[in-house]
Formats: sequence, structure tokens, C-alpha cells
Amino acid sequence: MTNIPRLNVVVLISGEGTNLQALIDAEKTGKINTRIQAVFSDRPEAPGIKRANRANIPTHYLARSDFPNRATYELELASHIDSYEPGLIVLAGFMKVLGAGFVRHFCGKIINIHPSLLPRYRGLDTHRRVLEEGDEKHGATVHFVTEELDGGPRIIQYCIPIKAKESEAELAQRVHEGEYIILPQAVAWLASQRLTLEGSNVILDDQKLEGPILIEDKHERSP
Ligand code: GAR
Repeated sequence: MTNIPRLNVVVLISGEGTNLQALIDAEKTGKINTRIQAVFSDRPEAPGIKRANRANIPTHYLARSDFPNRATYELELASHIDSYEPGLIVLAGFMKVLGAGFVRHFCGKIINIHPSLLPRYRGLDTHRRVLEEGDEKHGATVHFVTEELDGGPRIIQYCIPIKAKESEAELAQRVHEGEYIILPQAVAWLASQRLTLEGSNVILDDQKLEGPILIEDKHERSP
């Protein structure tokens, strides 16, 4: 038994919310010691909102277009999030770039999941770009969020060999499956207080990580 209280978590989404679902499922089955308090979306039609509704998690919709500029949008978003007093904010497919003020406000308490082996392929369309480059490997990364877009200290990566003639959709699906492993894992470490950000260092079990923890898919690369 642990005496560590459940970690209060707010999740930000823009789309399907399958990573949100992975967190909801992990919480339900006791794999992560969390309380997902609220889900925020910047898109009213994001399917992930229904996933939160089904799990009885309060949802909020805040659109950037309803504010005169990014600064006022982010102030409002931060203030709504603050009202939950979360210990962790998870960007789970949240497709808005967050500014320095917002990120600094929650420094050390925001993580993001990104569909590439960072530092390769920051930004959008990662699966297509990886295939165009003819890379042998692809994957996903969970990292702490800093002011540098997709550039914060990395926690854990999932890495797969790309199959010959693999389609973008198939590759995206396989990367997603890895995301459902590494995102709950990072949250589990944070919730059990095994993982922290100190300056720009990721500390896991009192050891500074020299690089992200790597989870490799076991499938052989096809000829
Ligand atoms: C995930 O693949 C996540 O890595 C990506 O969006 C997808 C959301 O899927 N995030 C980014 O591209 C952030 N730059 P989901 O809504 O089904 O969880």
C-alpha cells in the first residue's frame, strides 16, 4: 500500500482522445494513481470529449478564436486549469502551441506526447515526413513541456522498425499503440513521485536520465 495521494490531472485534447482513453483506462484499472479531474478541448467537436463524458469527467471547451489574442486565451485557459489545482497537465493530442507564459506558469507539471522520436520531426505530419525520408525507425516520445516547441526534456520513447512499403495509416496506428504504453507509464512514474524535472534534468528514481527510457517494439524489421 502507498501513502502517496492520488495525483490530480487535467488533460488537454483537440481530437480523438485515444491517449486520453488510455489514461482513463489506466486509472480505472489502478495502473496509475491519478484522479483525472477535467478535460479541456479547443475544439467543440473533438471526439475525445465524448470519452470524457462517458467516464464522468467534467469537460471544458475554450476556443482560441473567442479571444482577441493568444495571451488572453492562455490566461483564461490557465486560470480555468488552476481552479482544479492539478499536480499534472497532460497534453494528449492538444494541437495548439502554448506560449512561454503558460508553459512557465506550469513548469515541471506539463507533459506532452508527440508522435516521433524527438528530437527528430518536431511539429506536424510526422508519419508522412518519416516515410518520405526513408527512415528505418519511428516512434513516439513523452517529454516535459518547455518554451521550446517539442523540445523539452524527454522522459520515455517508444521505437518501432518501419516495415517495407508500410502505409502512413498503418505506421500511425502502430505508433499510437506505443503511445498507449508510454503515456500511462510516464504518468505512473509522476503519480508515484518517482519522476521529476529539476532544471532541465529528468530525474527518475533519484537518477538523472542521460536520455529517454527506450521501449522498443520486438517485431523484426521486414525485408
Ligand atoms: C497522438 O498521436 C499524439 O502523439 C499527437 O496527436 C495524436 C492524438 O491522438 N500529438 C501531436 O501531434 C502533438 N504535437 P489522440 O487524440 O487519439 O490521443
